Amino acid sequence: MGSMTTNHQPWLLFALLLIMSYYRACFSVAGDTLSPGHSLLESDTILSQGRKFELGFFKPGTSSKIYLGIWYKGFPDEIVWVANRENPLSHPSSSRLYLSENGNLLLFEGSSEIPVWSTNLTFPLSNINEAVLGDDGNFVLRDSSNASCIFWESFDHPTDTLLPGLKLWSRKSQQFISWKNSEDPAPGLFSAGTVGLNANGSIQFFLEWNRSQIYWSSEVWNGSDTLIWSSIFKWSFVSSKNESERYFTCSLYNPSNLANYRIDQTGQIRGLVWETGLSIWSEFWYAPTKPSDVYALCGAFGVVQYPDNFSNPCECLRGFKPFLMEDTRLNDWSGGCVRKSPLQCENNTHGSVKKDWFMKISNMRLPVYSKANLALNASRCELACMENCSCTAYAYNRSGCMIWEGGLLNLQHLPYGGEIGQDIYLRLAADEYPDSSTKGKKWKVWVVVLLPTIGLILCLPIYFSCKGRIKRKDQTGESPSSNNLLLFDFDAELHEMNDEMNTNNNMKKREKDAELPLFSYESVLAATNNLSAVNKLGEGGFGPVYKAKLLKGQEIAVKMLSKRSGQGIEEFRNETILIAKLQHRNLVRLLGCCIERDEKILIYEYMPNKSLDFYLFDPTKKKMLGWETRIRIIEGIAQGLLYLHQYSRLRIIHRDLKPSNILLDSEMNPKISDFGMARIVGGNETQANTNRIVGTYGYMSPEYAMDGLYSIKSDVFSFGVLVLEIVSGRKNTSFYNNESLNLLRYAWELLRDDRSLDLMEPAIRYPSSTSIILRFIKIGLLCVQESPIDRPTMSDVISMISNEHAPLPTPKQAAFSSGRNMMDTNSTVDSAGSCSKNSVTISAMKAR
Ligand SMILES: *[C@@H]1O[C@H](CO)[C@@H](O)[C@H](O)[C@H]1NC(C)=O
Ligand SMILES: *[C@@H]1O[C@H](CO)[C@@H](O)[C@H](O)[C@H]1NC(C)=O
Ligand SMILES: *[C@@H]1O[C@H](CO)[C@@H](O)[C@H](O)[C@H]1NC(C)=O
Ligand SMILES: *[C@@H]1O[C@H](CO)[C@@H](O)[C@H](O)[C@H]1NC(C)=O
Ligand SMILES: *[C@@H]1O[C@H](CO)[C@@H](O)[C@H](O)[C@H]1NC(C)=O
Ligand SMILES: *[C@@H]1O[C@H](CO)[C@@H](O)[C@H](O)[C@H]1NC(C)=O
Ligand SMILES: *[C@@H]1O[C@H](CO)[C@@H](O)[C@H](O)[C@H]1NC(C)=O
Ligand SMILES: *[C@@H]1O[C@H](CO)[C@@H](O)[C@H](O)[C@H]1NC(C)=O
Ligand SMILES: *[C@@H]1O[C@H](CO)[C@@H](O)[C@H](O)[C@H]1NC(C)=O
Ligand SMILES: *[C@@H]1O[C@H](CO)[C@@H](O)[C@H](O)[C@H]1NC(C)=O
Ligand SMILES: *[C@@H]1O[C@H](CO)[C@@H](O)[C@H](O)[C@H]1NC(C)=O
Repeated sequence: MGSMTTNHQPWLLFALLLIMSYYRACFSVAGDTLSPGHSLLESDTILSQGRKFELGFFKPGTSSKIYLGIWYKGFPDEIVWVANRENPLSHPSSSRLYLSENGNLLLFEGSSEIPVWSTNLTFPLSNINEAVLGDDGNFVLRDSSNASCIFWESFDHPTDTLLPGLKLWSRKSQQFISWKNSEDPAPGLFSAGTVGLNANGSIQFFLEWNRSQIYWSSEVWNGSDTLIWSSIFKWSFVSSKNESERYFTCSLYNPSNLANYRIDQTGQIRGLVWETGLSIWSEFWYAPTKPSDVYALCGAFGVVQYPDNFSNPCECLRGFKPFLMEDTRLNDWSGGCVRKSPLQCENNTHGSVKKDWFMKISNMRLPVYSKANLALNASRCELACMENCSCTAYAYNRSGCMIWEGGLLNLQHLPYGGEIGQDIYLRLAADEYPDSSTKGKKWKVWVVVLLPTIGLILCLPIYFSCKGRIKRKDQTGESPSSNNLLLFDFDAELHEMNDEMNTNNNMKKREKDAELPLFSYESVLAATNNLSAVNKLGEGGFGPVYKAKLLKGQEIAVKMLSKRSGQGIEEFRNETILIAKLQHRNLVRLLGCCIERDEKILIYEYMPNKSLDFYLFDPTKKKMLGWETRIRIIEGIAQGLLYLHQYSRLRIIHRDLKPSNILLDSEMNPKISDFGMARIVGGNETQANTNRIVGTYGYMSPEYAMDGLYSIKSDVFSFGVLVLEIVSGRKNTSFYNNESLNLLRYAWELLRDDRSLDLMEPAIRYPSSTSIILRFIKIGLLCVQESPIDRPTMSDVISMISNEHAPLPTPKQAAFSSGRNMMDTNSTVDSAGSCSKNSVTISAMKAR
């Protein structure tokens, strides 16, 4: 074999193949190495020496196309490198990777002599090369007699994944380019790169759209341990006299970890680590945090959904449909949206009576790259746009007239009352005009669209869909509108809703949201096996919670509100209205309800990992919450609360934040639940007063527990307690018997004595970097300060968390005695069989 010098003769190749298939046993790939003259066939893989990585052929998702790639051994979906991302193969039986005699790696399909992909090395190489897959996931073409003489390595040609050990050279700029979507490794629109790798070793990561528009950049690395995230990866700069030999690299603090950074199709860069204890890939870091921060995520004429949702980030403007439905189902919006009906001038139907028109879209973030027009007023501006066929939209404000041509990128509906958005006028075909062109009908459209929306906002109790249906039911005796829970398909319902979202505007969406499915009591009984004890998940303050399984296999949680509980019809109504309207990845989703025979029942999504207290305070289970998970939980709770306080259209105070109300999904992401006691405060109002004090001892702020004054700062207080509990693994009330001490005081005294690290949960492995934990302790203490004015708002908290380097103020003394007096009030305590003994929900009527 070694004497064979060329593979250009077809018969030689054929003979080689014949020999290889004959002597498969002798010639097949040996472990981690491919030798010259040998091929890797479609059914073979190369395994790195320590069995960490595997190289071979794969088909992504449901795609039938074949790629050569590297993945983590045992995780065939965790592809870290793809060779032929632009040139897939389609014939499995005849694909092969061949190490030629002249030392090049070649990927062939069928009997074709033209490689689909190759390493393209041109200088003469020795014929004693070998291709080796290393335990770092690097596929290296090297001199077989001198392992440090490397001709080519996959690390120098990364796909979308940065693995520890990869070198970012100063002599060339390596780019990490996202896959187009989860089933197509072709280069997508988003890429990550570095700038500034120079003599002093300062470096900055950035994310870019279409290799042209930078939308995120990291801070500059200055040699300390803080670039991006430091508890898992250690970054270092390797200097050399020869400038082009300098590089920047990272390694793992714990070499046995599996971890990487990846830029994905939604434009986010994520740090992923395999958590052995939980058997999940968990996200330890990501940026940017919101889809709306990714430039042009939704493509032309696409608009970022509000609220932010990375798993379903986009919709099309009215009059537009997704360019490729299949792609958008895979979350790939690079094709954007296209018109449903062509414009009049696009179609050259000039004589037609149908004219293009402009649809006003309010409160938008405007696309960049507008053209200025000299038009002096709004009607002139409209005319300027109408007259030019290439104009797709215009906007007019006091600074003048702006017009846009071609696809509109980077659109976003801004939250009401938040950043100030502007009105944009979008050119649409006459066929998209809401109904015909008569004024009367237009007026009707406004009534149909606007009235329910206004009703929704202003007259919540009236617009309560469940209740409305119950009334009907009471009158007729039978309930024709009740659904059978067992047969219900929540997935279909959600899909339908998403389709609705894709094609319609936000108002319609919200209208739809408020329609909660109502279920019959019989079907709830059937789904929960007659409320059998086996199905019982636990008992909250207001009643038992059951798990139910529907015929289609979906699992849901059923919360029965006990009749004697504190939660009356008012709270029930509250909770239902509130949650049906709230959508955020850190809030539990309400799927339906049932009101029959004095029973009040809520149907929720099922959270397989129970609640936070289940792990946090259990001596063995607490070990399952590593520091990354804890940090993610704190950040998730903060995001959920911020949404409640600020970004949901209503300002909502939760009032009963505690570990048992933080549920965990299958990936240990936190979701805030139990809105039974939440209150809406109107508009800019941030504080209110109540006669009825409800909450949980240990989590209530002093001004609320004592004076019934609640505000968003009462939730901030509870959040602070939660943070300290999550970091320390101790209940605030666990110090109860010790008169002088509680967790808040203990934490504050440790901080004062500069011994904060003593607070950290001792049961779990010490993190490699403690600075973030110390920061959380300080943030927690800032949140539990005695005076509500001193406490930060949740948006302050978020910026303290995300801005790792901004100095924090020194917390004043915590409100040590909070809730202490509560125990003296005439409290009604409802705790029968509560799953966590100390977590008693108090509902007290305060004498005034
Ligand atoms: C090899 O060269 C061909 C032709 O010049 C080019 O199309 C291909 O992208 C190159 N492959 C790699 C891996 O650089
Ligand atoms: C192996 O290759 C490296 C890099 O090319 C070179 O510095 C070294 O001298 C070589 N070692 C031997 C034994 O040839
Ligand atoms: C990306 O940029 C290229 C030119 O660099 C351009 O041809 C292409 O249309 C752009 N893609 C999108 C989706 O705008
Ligand atoms: C490194 O050099 C760049 C310019 O070359 C400069 O902007 C940066 O501040 C320097 N960083 C440090 C840490 O000196
Ligand atoms: C790097 O920057 C961080 C914060 O910006 C600072 O705390 C640290 O001291 C700096 N390190 C060096 C070596 O300059
Ligand atoms: C520096 O390194 C590059 C790449 O390895 C090499 O091509 C170049 O000759 C080196 N320059 C000097 C001055 O050694
Ligand atoms: C142009 O308009 C005519 C009549 O309105 C229609 O039949 C035709 O399909 C349109 N052409 C295109 C390209 O949409
Ligand atoms: C806009 O300006 C034009 C002339 O510049 C004038 O004829 C027209 O009346 C103005 N329209 C409004 C609404 O002011
Ligand atoms: C329409 O806009 C294009 C692009 O700016 C410009 O080249 C063209 O002259 C305009 N046409 C008219 C009639 O103003
Ligand atoms: C008009 O809109 C542009 C683009 O969004 C903005 O920069 C400018 O500040 C606005 N002017 C006024 C007066 O609002
Ligand atoms: C985000 O979208 C996905 C897919 O539609 C949905 O399942 C999820 O509930 C949404 N999350 C939020 C917080 O709205």
